[in-house]
Amino acid sequence: MNILVTGGAGFIGSNFVRHLLAAHPEHSIVNLDKLTYAGNLENLTDVEHLPGYTFIRGDICDRDLIGSLDFDAIVHFAAESHVDRSILDSSPFLQTNVIGTATLLEAARERCCRMLHVSTDEVYGSLPQGLFTEASLISPNSPYAASKASSDLLVRAYHETYGMDLLITRCSNNYGPYQFPEKLIPLVISHALQGKTIPVYGDGQNVRDWIHVADHNRAVDLVFHHAKAGDVYNIGARNEQKNIDIIKTLLAVIAKKTGRDREGLFRLITFVKDRPGHDRRYAIDPAKIETDLSWKPEIPFDQGLSDTVAWYLENRSWWERVISGAYLEYYRLQYGERFGG
Ligand code: NAD
Ligand code: TYD
Repeated sequence: MNILVTGGAGFIGSNFVRHLLAAHPEHSIVNLDKLTYAGNLENLTDVEHLPGYTFIRGDICDRDLIGSLDFDAIVHFAAESHVDRSILDSSPFLQTNVIGTATLLEAARERCCRMLHVSTDEVYGSLPQGLFTEASLISPNSPYAASKASSDLLVRAYHETYGMDLLITRCSNNYGPYQFPEKLIPLVISHALQGKTIPVYGDGQNVRDWIHVADHNRAVDLVFHHAKAGDVYNIGARNEQKNIDIIKTLLAVIAKKTGRDREGLFRLITFVKDRPGHDRRYAIDPAKIETDLSWKPEIPFDQGLSDTVAWYLENRSWWERVISGAYLEYYRLQYGERFGG
């Protein structure tokens, strides 16, 4: 199969490309990515030479471009993904997450092909108690979450209206290698290593349900290969954590791995004004994917966090080039001429 992966130069998408090339050498991949600030081809330097892999720089809103590509199925990761940015300006979120998804749905309709839409637990909003199931009310609270909810509803409508072979996955907060250092875990690690203050929104008691990106991608793989048309699957590792607890754990791990003064690192913690509309708690019920597809997370949180700190320590030049903006040059130098810039 020739699979169109959108957003394959981002955090989860690049980990998925690497996973798919290793786990399914029978498939080939066309990675379509616009290379926004979040797209980084340096995430893929170890696999970009493989014969089953092609990169195309382009926008998922570009119907003609998508129509010209050769593929039999779509796994759709491309999105504007950061809540704080959506609060500052929602327009790129509406354009990419809503219009872009609609454009891909039209392309899938033309070819009668399977499309898996990667979504988020944030579409369900904030949860005082209990767990999000696939039947929970869609009740988004940020412009990001509302744009993802809108795209989920379009996917649902295209399945109902046209009988298309469409799937939705809704995953909880991911962490792991190649995550852009604007998200909580890589932000804490990179700030701690630079001696910069660590901003904690509000009282730090907000709860997120964390999963390693490799466990998420194994679930996406299973859903893509085995779910039936119209299925929706929640993905989560039953791992609720308060923000402040994660920050303290990360700082303790960094102190241990680097020999830095633990109390000195803890003094970087700075409580700041809360994010507007800040969801208090997310928690996923993954029972459906566990039962239907025998999926289970394999990476315990302590291990995953420790490995992630080790990765950011070993790959300091990766995140320093992201922070300085130097990574944006990589595409032009490596691909600019070959792919038309
Ligand atoms: P990311 O921001 O790291 O990567 C997004 C990628 O999409 C980038 O490579 C970017 O260049 C590309 N992109 C953006 N607009 C595009 C466009 N118009 N056309 C083509 N490419 C475009 O995001 P991520 O954290 O890897 O998230 C991937 C997907 O998973 C998103 O759909 C997100 O909603 C979902 N998700 C993320 C998390 C999480 O914790 N990060 C959790 C659940 C679901
Ligand atoms: P984030 O990584 O932005 O993911 P999301 O908003 O999609 O859950 O944030 C995770 C949690 O950490 C969220 O409750 C907001 C909080 N947070 C901070 O306290 N400080 C920060 O600097 C960031 C980026 C997030």
